[in-house]
Amino acid sequence: MPESTIVVETRQLTKVFGSVEPVRALDGVDLTIHSGDLVAIVGPSGSGKSTLLNMLGGLDDPSSGEVLIDGVSLNSVRDIDSFRSKTVGFVFQMHNLIPTLTALENVIVPLHEASMSKSARRGRANELLVLVGLEHRLKSLPSQLSGGERQRVAIARALANDPKIVLADEPTGNLDSKTTTDIMELMSELNQTQDTTIIVVTHNVYCASMMRRVVTMRDGTIVSDTVPQDGFDRDLMEFRQSSLGQAIMEGGQVPDSMADLEQSLKDLLRES
Ligand SMILES: Nc1ncnc2c1ncn2[C@@H]1O[C@H](COP(=O)(O)OP(=O)(O)OP(=O)(O)O)[C@@H](O)[C@H]1O
Ligand SMILES: [Mg+2]
Repeated sequence: MPESTIVVETRQLTKVFGSVEPVRALDGVDLTIHSGDLVAIVGPSGSGKSTLLNMLGGLDDPSSGEVLIDGVSLNSVRDIDSFRSKTVGFVFQMHNLIPTLTALENVIVPLHEASMSKSARRGRANELLVLVGLEHRLKSLPSQLSGGERQRVAIARALANDPKIVLADEPTGNLDSKTTTDIMELMSELNQTQDTTIIVVTHNVYCASMMRRVVTMRDGTIVSDTVPQDGFDRDLMEFRQSSLGQAIMEGGQVPDSMADLEQSLKDLLRES
């Protein structure tokens, strides 16, 4: 099997907000993501997930360290907007569709830079909405769509320029659990069929366990990087997010296996 290529790499990525009371939102993050990866980023509120995602997409500059996309450091890219529109697709929790445009028109918007005829743009947008299962809603305005349907339009829009990487920040935040599962399944399917590298920030343990790799953040650093394989991993992730799990992590130990977990529990019981 050919070795998979690295599409995203961070080296000692650090972001400090403010100067009077500085917040180290990211603290020396080293992360490597390969072509075709399907990655969840999880962690408590304020742990730096969105900051990391924004930095990966070139939406914000690091205080120090760097992000490399396809081996190119974003610090050295002059026209970051153009680089971003060709390489990265974003899906946000607030799907920020343009309210006065139809689903089809919303997907056409990012294609305005592509050297395509008007009809080719419409064709491409149409194709993408079929891909996300919205062929019957092409002419609907966002206000006429359900939350899940709007998020599908946002995903179609993110895929418009055939980006190498899709970055999604809490894409299922406001949706019910069935729609959440559908959207995550759609992402997972697109990852396989379109060979897109997908990085999703989520609070939802179940969503995270549907991804192939789960990166956990805490206080601006990566505290674990695992491959969910079975129900146990799902349970372990839920446990990590529970108050007992958090207490164990406060103690500086992040269980990655049953043996680790048992040891951590023993240590905790001995201390209490
Ligand atoms: N523009 C900003 N100015 C100042 N501080 C910021 C800014 N953006 C983020 N922060 C701080 O950086 C830290 C990380 O924020 P970030 O938004 O990355 O967290 P998060 O993990 O995405 O949290 P959540 O799960 O609540 O979305 C937080 O302490 C936050 O208050
Ligand atoms: Mg966030």
